[in-house]
Amino acid sequence: MRGVYGEGRPEGAAVEAADREGAGRDLRFGYGVRGAGAGTTGGAAIVWRRRRSVNITVIGSGYVGTTTALVLAKLGHQVIGYDVDASKVERLNRGELPFREPGLEELLHELLQDGKIVFTADGRTAVTSSQLLMISVGTPSAADGNADLKYLTSAIDTIAEFIDGPKIVITKSTVPIGTNRWIKERFAEKVDLTKTPVDVVSNPEFLREGSALHDSFQPSRTIVGGDNPLAVETVKRLYSGLPTTYYTCDFETAEMIKYASNGFLAAKISFINEIARLAEEVGADIGGVARGMGMDPRISSHHLSAGIGYGGSCFPKDVAELLHLANRKNVKLSMLAEAKRVNDTQIDWFVERMQAVAPLKGQRVLVLGVAFKEDTDDQRESPGIRLMERLLKLGVREVRAFDPTVRAVDEIRWTKPLGKGAAKRVKVATDVERAADGVHAVVLTTPWKSFETLPWKQWATAAATPVVFDGRNFLDDVALRGLGWQYYGVARGRGR
Ligand SMILES: NC(=O)c1ccc[n+]([C@@H]2O[C@H](COP(=O)([O-])OP(=O)(O)OC[C@H]3O[C@@H](n4cnc5c(N)ncnc54)[C@H](O)[C@@H]3O)[C@@H](O)[C@H]2O)c1
Repeated sequence: MRGVYGEGRPEGAAVEAADREGAGRDLRFGYGVRGAGAGTTGGAAIVWRRRRSVNITVIGSGYVGTTTALVLAKLGHQVIGYDVDASKVERLNRGELPFREPGLEELLHELLQDGKIVFTADGRTAVTSSQLLMISVGTPSAADGNADLKYLTSAIDTIAEFIDGPKIVITKSTVPIGTNRWIKERFAEKVDLTKTPVDVVSNPEFLREGSALHDSFQPSRTIVGGDNPLAVETVKRLYSGLPTTYYTCDFETAEMIKYASNGFLAAKISFINEIARLAEEVGADIGGVARGMGMDPRISSHHLSAGIGYGGSCFPKDVAELLHLANRKNVKLSMLAEAKRVNDTQIDWFVERMQAVAPLKGQRVLVLGVAFKEDTDDQRESPGIRLMERLLKLGVREVRAFDPTVRAVDEIRWTKPLGKGAAKRVKVATDVERAADGVHAVVLTTPWKSFETLPWKQWATAAATPVVFDGRNFLDDVALRGLGWQYYGVARGRGR
């Protein structure tokens, strides 16, 4: 794990001053409360002890909450992970990760063994054990496209119910612009802030699933937004030991940095996908175009991979929320709206190209990839699933799914329930040797590394027609053609 955890310790003067204040005391996880009056809510700023550690409760033990809880424990803090899902809590306390993320389970074992982290489903324990409470519950899109804040509201209400002293509530979840101010108002309604002051700090997360540990230990930046400088400093100090650069600002700026970042990255993907549609017509190799563009540091090569579009738990919902907000404020975000439209139609464009090779109705199609991206089991807004739904609608005889994280049909999270007829036409391949038997087409939707070394040679003879559509431009087209496959990628150019 060397190199993942990082070594720098960039800290500010405020942190050093607080250190001197706590010097000489031997209370590793202890903290005191600096007198009231430090901020708008009376000030719940923590006096740190010399060894730079605190008790912190992370509310929500999903992809972000568990990763962040483990990173904070690794940095030396005493961490409680709280989740309303008792079975998840039990599994975590047994050292079992309830989802897939490289490196995380090993770190969980280490920190459970060291007694640095424990998980609970008890709200009172969660709230009363720590002065710092970090919220990392889900904020999915509601049916109308707005962010659904029911989990966030229930987390706040749990804090309000069991509050026993001053707290700093850190919002790690991605929340719509204006939410941190609303959280403050909700606490003001539910809690006597003169007795138990509550500070709220926005601290959005930027990790990517599949490389969550790397991203958390080597953050590109740490955004801390708030209205009480002491609480903001406290949150910055939590991360002392990480090689990061801090940017502090007000609530709305912090919230918007998160949404605008995801909106920009989504637009970058849609941009290259739209250019790919043209590249396809003129015979340019979109991979080469992206490489050449990415050599310009003003552009960078990230998020310039053409394919079947973006998915996952963040980009679609964050773009939708930003567009909703703009609509409510009568502001036109036409570029973002267009980026969404391109993404929404990218699979149609791809399926049309498949249909142009051979009509899919009545055929058997093997789909490689159910997770929304490689190295995760997360299926939220997965392009692979959207593609399968599209194929079923087109009347394919059988959709056969293959993914390292899926063993049965009922493990696939469809965007809406499948009708009986469609459900019957879905199978999950578990025997890799026989996965391509009798199929008329193979479609790659997720670039799992292991897909490079599938038995392509054997599959070429087992398939009814050896045709492969590579929705991620991931496979070695030249090698596959050499094995007898007809290969179609996304604008891979004339030279291939
Ligand atoms: N997943 C990512 O890659 C990613 C990256 C950056 C930011 N985010 C943001 O982080 C937040 C969390 O995302 P996630 O992917 O970890 O979600 P998740 O669905 O994996 O986890 C959320 C967890 O919160 C728990 N929960 C719900 N209500 C609760 C409550 N009242 N008290 C305690 N626990 C509760 C759920 O049981 C679940 O385990 C979201 O706002 C998301 O937009 C996610």
